[in-house]
Amino acid sequence: MNHTERLPRNRTYLMCPPKHFTVEYAINPWMDTTVPVDAVLALKQWEILRDTLGDLGHQVHVLDAVAGLPDMVYAANGAFSVDGTVYGARFRYPERSAEADAHREFYTTQGWSFAGPQHINEGEGDFAYLPGAYGGTVLAGYGFRTDPAAHAEAQEVLGRPVVSLRLVDPAFYHLDTALAALDDRNVTYYPEAFSTASQRVLAQLFPDAVLADRADAEAFGLNLVSDGRHVILNTEATAMGDKVRAAGYLPVHVDLSELKRGGGSVKCAVAELRG
Ligand code: ARG
Repeated sequence: MNHTERLPRNRTYLMCPPKHFTVEYAINPWMDTTVPVDAVLALKQWEILRDTLGDLGHQVHVLDAVAGLPDMVYAANGAFSVDGTVYGARFRYPERSAEADAHREFYTTQGWSFAGPQHINEGEGDFAYLPGAYGGTVLAGYGFRTDPAAHAEAQEVLGRPVVSLRLVDPAFYHLDTALAALDDRNVTYYPEAFSTASQRVLAQLFPDAVLADRADAEAFGLNLVSDGRHVILNTEATAMGDKVRAAGYLPVHVDLSELKRGGGSVKCAVAELRG
């Protein structure tokens, strides 16, 4: 197939090392507190992900891990930024609530305009931004974590239309486990993770989307980070790699087997800073 060349855009990311990563509580179906995490391997895999992003020319900021916050490695959940404005997170479960403060501290110290939320929302876990779709569109998930009231709040804070999408499968509890931006205007998603009506909305907005299947989603193949050309995704997600390659992107696989034990992969570990 012939595609217009997929061009990368340099990005700025925020990551947090899995220094205190464990699975000591279970707040999603992937978490099994009886299986120990290999902390050394988790850190090694995380470093490879960080270096992969750096080698592709992206800037990676690192947030210090805080003891007692084992899920803090999933930095995507800490906030959502669009054009220099940050909409802060407010976590559903008390086990993670203090992570929001560490992220707020990072943004305010760096001089970002930061809006603290009234409503529960888990940052980029449930929000995605497509700068080139309809002049700048936010996609927002709800059903398991983020309160739909946060979608309206995000729209008021960010001044971009927010499209609400209902997630219906507990295995795909965050939007970023079921959908990802491939570039400024196109997405990939697993349709059955969404309600029938939300599937219709996605089909209407994104006729050229790359569609994934259940096996892709279960391999965390949708939990990817793309710079518009390079698509960084879990090693297990080989079929998903083939799908994005067929659409003209370049898959780059990284092994995040340990982070999967907490119910996350590449995208969960990486927040994009959109200045
Ligand atoms: N254990 C974490 C939780 O359940 C995983 C978060 C994954 N992050 C994400 N962006 N999907 O909250």
